[in-house]
Amino acid sequence: MGAVVAGVVVHGDGRGRQLGYPTANVATEPGGEVPEDGVYSGWARLEDGSVHHAAISVGKRPTYYEDGAVLVEAHLLDFDGDLYDQRVELELGALVRLQLRFDSTERLVEQIRLDVADVRRLDDAPEALTDLAGQTEG
Ligand SMILES: Cc1cc2nc3c(=O)[nH]c(=O)nc-3n(C[C@H](O)[C@H](O)[C@H](O)COP(=O)(O)O)c2cc1C
Repeated sequence: MGAVVAGVVVHGDGRGRQLGYPTANVATEPGGEVPEDGVYSGWARLEDGSVHHAAISVGKRPTYYEDGAVLVEAHLLDFDGDLYDQRVELELGALVRLQLRFDSTERLVEQIRLDVADVRRLDDAPEALTDLAGQTEG
């Protein structure tokens, strides 16, 4: 069973939306485990209980930062809404790849596009998170 990380969605640099892949930046809670760096297929449970398939990035964003803080970010598939200040739970499933440093934003965006396609194709199911709203999406 994959690791579960919970936390409130905080404001990031706002770059994700510019890239076309907005992410919910989850502030991990003290004492909670932080998963290994990487890009994962996973699931996000929102406060309304709905569970959404997501591409989850854990790491220091080496494309932009020499030695940044470890960040947990989730791009929810087929979701367009404001998640700020919500407490969300993330379940990490299959590891898609490791975090990498890209030469340009364009290359990173191209890779994220492939990641999202991989995550979609995996079409796995959450094991730890149940859908309290009875509507699993993604
Ligand atoms: C599926 C996915 C994969 C990512 N992989 C990487 C990566 O390999 N290297 C990296 O520097 N950033 C990676 N990121 C993080 C992006 O750099 C980050 O989402 C973007 O800069 C927006 O940051 P912001 O939310 O603080 O604005 C990834 C993000 C997503 C959604």
